[in-house]
Amino acid sequence: MVSSAPCTALPRRGKSSFTLQRCLLGIFLATLAFLLFTLSDACVLPPPFQALELVGKPKPYYEVGEEITYRCKKGYDQVLGFLTIATCEPNHTWVPISDDACMKRRCPYLGAPKFGKADYPNGTHQWGAQVHFSCSSGYYIIGKAIVNCVLKGENPHWDGKAPQCEKILCEPPPKIKDGKYSFSDIEVFEYMEAVTYSCNKKPAGEELSLVGEKELYCAGNGVWSSSPPQCKVVKCPFPAVENGNQLSGLGKKFSYRDTVVFECIQGYYMNGSTTSVCNGESVWEPPLPKCLKATPPPNTKPPTISYSVSTSPSTKPPVSTVSGYPNPDGLFDDDFALWIILLIILIAIVSIAIIILCLYRRFQRRKKGKTVRAQYNTYQKSLTTSAEPTT
Ligand SMILES: *[C@@H]1O[C@H](CO)[C@@H](O)[C@H](O)[C@H]1NC(C)=O
Ligand SMILES: *[C@@H]1O[C@H](CO)[C@@H](O)[C@H](O)[C@H]1NC(C)=O
Ligand SMILES: *[C@@H]1O[C@H](CO)[C@@H](O)[C@H](O)[C@H]1NC(C)=O
Repeated sequence: MVSSAPCTALPRRGKSSFTLQRCLLGIFLATLAFLLFTLSDACVLPPPFQALELVGKPKPYYEVGEEITYRCKKGYDQVLGFLTIATCEPNHTWVPISDDACMKRRCPYLGAPKFGKADYPNGTHQWGAQVHFSCSSGYYIIGKAIVNCVLKGENPHWDGKAPQCEKILCEPPPKIKDGKYSFSDIEVFEYMEAVTYSCNKKPAGEELSLVGEKELYCAGNGVWSSSPPQCKVVKCPFPAVENGNQLSGLGKKFSYRDTVVFECIQGYYMNGSTTSVCNGESVWEPPLPKCLKATPPPNTKPPTISYSVSTSPSTKPPVSTVSGYPNPDGLFDDDFALWIILLIILIAIVSIAIIILCLYRRFQRRKKGKTVRAQYNTYQKSLTTSAEPTT
C-alpha cells in the first residue's frame, strides 16, 4: 500500500529529496500522458456544414466513442440512407456524416411556354436555382425571362410567373418625303421581313440622294431595324486644298458619298486626312486637309500614352476579387489553437495544485510519523513494564 503511491510514501531519513523528485516526475508524466491523450484520441467538432446544423451546444473536444447529432437546416430535407449521427473514431475522424445527408427543397417544375423554352442553367429546380425562359425565333417574351426559386420560410417558391411568347409583328414602316418603299401594300410585316427605300426621280434639276439605311427589316415586335432614310439634295462644296494636289475624285459636282484624295506639294506637309467623303449634310468628312509649310511635324501624340491608359484598368479587377472571399478554415484553426492554449493553462494550474497538495501531505506525514513513533515508543515501554510482573 505504502510503496504504490510515490507521493504518499513515508519519507525516510536521507531519502526525502529522492522521493520529491519521483513525485514531480510522476506529475510531469501524468500531464504529458493527459496532453497526448487529449490531442491524439479526441475529436474536435468538424467544420460547419452547409446543409446540416448541430443539435445542442458544441464542445471543445469529444472523447472517442462520443456521438454528435446533426439535423437538416431550414429548407432542407433528409435523404434516406444517410446518417446524421456521427461517432468520434480513434483516428479523430467523425464517421460518417456529410452534406449529402440533407438536400435542398425544390420549387415545382416549370415547363416551357408555347413557342419558347425553359432552361435550368443550374441543372436543378432547388431553391437558389434559376429558370431562363426564351422564345423561338419570330416570337417575343411577355413577362420575366429569369425566374428564381427562393426560400420563403420553410418552403421554396418561384419569384414570378412563367412568361408567354407572342408572335413578332411590325406595322408598315414610316413613309418618307420624296421617296417610297417596296411592299407598300402590306398591312402587317412578320419578323425579318424587309422593305427597300428609293428616292423619287425629280423631273429636272438636282438629283436626290438616299441618305441612311436603304433596307429596313422588322427586327422586333413593332420595331424596325433602323430609322428610315431621307431623300435629299446633297451638294458638297468644291474641294480646294491650298498647296495640295487632288489625286482622285475629280469632278464638277460633289454629291452624297463622293470621295476625294489629296497630297501636299513639295515643301509642305499635311495636317488632316488624305481622304474625305461628302456626307449627308453636304459636309466633307473628315474635313479637308491643310498643307502647311514644312517645318518637321512634331510628334504630338506619342503612342506610349494610349498604351498606359489601356493597360491600367485590366490590372485592377483581380486584386479586388481575391480579397473578397472569407476563409472559414482559418476561423476553425484559430478556435482550435485557443482551446489548446486554454488546455495547457488548465494543466499548469492542476500541476501546481498537485505539487502543493504533495508538499502539504508530505509535511503532514512527517508530523504524523513523529507522533506515531512517539506513541509506539510509549506503547513499547508500557508493554515491557506491564509484561515484567507476569513473567
Ligand atoms: C478512421 O477510422 C474509421 C473506422 O474506425 C475508418 O472508416 C476511416 O476511414 C478512418 N479514417 C482515416 C482518415 O483514417
Ligand atoms: C445558377 O446559374 C446562373 C446562370 O448560370 C448563375 O448566375 C447562378 O449563380 C447559378 N446559381 C447557383 C446557386 O449556382
Ligand atoms: C493641325 O490642325 C489642328 C486644327 O485643325 C491643330 O490643332 C493642330 O495643332 C495642327 N497640327 C499641326 C502639326 O500643325
